[in-house]
Amino acid sequence: MTARILGIETSCDETAIGVVEDGRRILSNVVASSSQFHAAYGGVVPEIAARVHVEVIWQVLQEALTAAHLSVEQLDAIAVTHGPGLPGALLIGLAFAKGLALALDRPLIGVDHLAAHLYAGSMTDEALEPPYVGLVVSGGHTLLCVAHPQQRFEVLGETKDDAVGEAFDKTAKLLGLGYPGGPIIDRLSDEGRADAVPFSRSNAKDGFDFSFSGLKTAVYQYVQKQTSEARSQKSEEEKGAATWTHQQIADVAASFQEAAVDILVTKTLRACQRTGLKRLVVGGGVAANRRLRQRLLEAGQPRGLQVVCPPPALCVDNGAMVAGVAFEQLQAGARAPLSLAIAPNRCLN
Ligand code: KG4
Ligand code: ZN
Repeated sequence: MTARILGIETSCDETAIGVVEDGRRILSNVVASSSQFHAAYGGVVPEIAARVHVEVIWQVLQEALTAAHLSVEQLDAIAVTHGPGLPGALLIGLAFAKGLALALDRPLIGVDHLAAHLYAGSMTDEALEPPYVGLVVSGGHTLLCVAHPQQRFEVLGETKDDAVGEAFDKTAKLLGLGYPGGPIIDRLSDEGRADAVPFSRSNAKDGFDFSFSGLKTAVYQYVQKQTSEARSQKSEEEKGAATWTHQQIADVAASFQEAAVDILVTKTLRACQRTGLKRLVVGGGVAANRRLRQRLLEAGQPRGLQVVCPPPALCVDNGAMVAGVAFEQLQAGARAPLSLAIAPNRCLN
């Protein structure tokens, strides 16, 4: 039986709704981001994110239905991210989904945001079957796991401090590049030398847990040192003027990106080797990073590793991945009660 599922995603600063048929066929995938309202702060302001969700979610729903050429009555189930994410932001999507499910008398499916990011791999490669190694890299999470059949996950390691996307965003803020920093650093790195600054990769040495606060601090200290050295060489009148050239900024950006990617690739390959699994799925906003994709694909080939990197639109937060993963849950008989609560902290079972 064909099932058309509406997927609602409001865990952070994207108000996203998609319609997916039978877990794979994307009929629409509409994303409205409030990132421009957070730019001045260099990071997501939860209160602003929640307010914008309320303001735009109805419009996003209309656009998703129009693009899918469907009316609400033609939907078979309503899926929604119930965690992890920002509590206020999650509440908006969940309350909206409950209202729709109740009004339409359709099943409500609660979706784990991280599982949805990995499911983007199954929407990319229809032949993909678990078990596989999953790497989730986003603004809120950095996590390695083994994905087993029936949405069961075994977490191998996760970040002990900053998520890698957060490190991209904070580094961009430090370099005065704007928000969200990940895509900006990705592009700017094309113009920089990745070996210009040898940021430490020492935390890649062992285990599966990550730490990115040290790398972020190393960038900060490097910028401080270079700035004060440049100032001390200038005359009194020149002091205070911008001391960084575009090339220097691009070099730091590229060097930071290379170090972050090195750490991710080293740990991920270790996870593949230790588990003996020959399939790898990368999900989350940072999976859109071109250097990370390239490095994983290059490393995968000689090792006989199948590396699935979803297209960028399915890496960043979106509603289609939520509707997709919900299809498996619906088939397995999952139905969430209208009392379903948000789960702001790390989920994946
Ligand atoms: O998955 P996502 O859209 O939202 C969360 O669940 O957090 O990920 C957002 C993160 C942000 O930190 C953003 O800077 C980063 O993904 N990002 C990237 C790229 N595109 C988005 N980081 C590096 N390179 C990119 N191309
Ligand atoms: Zn995400």
